[in-house]
Amino acid sequence: KSEDEIVNITYIKKNGEKIKVRGKVGDNVLYLAHRYEIPMEGACEASLACTTCHVYVKNDYLDKLNPAEEKEDDLLDLAPFLRENSRLGCQIILTKDMEGLELELPKATRNFYVDGHTPKPH
Ligand code: FES
Repeated sequence: KSEDEIVNITYIKKNGEKIKVRGKVGDNVLYLAHRYEIPMEGACEASLACTTCHVYVKNDYLDKLNPAEEKEDDLLDLAPFLRENSRLGCQIILTKDMEGLELELPKATRNFYVDGHTPKPH
């Protein structure tokens, strides 16, 4: 694989430990985390039916990401410790623009499934 496909990103674990990984364009950051044994849960396997892949997007990278779909926003509203820069990790697919991205794991996630995969109205 060519160097231009490489995207270096950093995960920040709950204890503050930073783990740098070499991803590549098109990688889903949830599965990338799993390859490096980083504890991002992903209980619903990226089917937008949980919030356990919740991450904080650091350092103004939010704008470089694909915008959240309505369904992702609805689910995020149910996530504990929600912040302005919260996203669901399983919806972040690496592009070259995300070189240097830092993703911080929240203090806790809530492990639940939303009935019929339909978020509650809010
Ligand atoms: Fe369930 Fe991301 S893994 S919403």
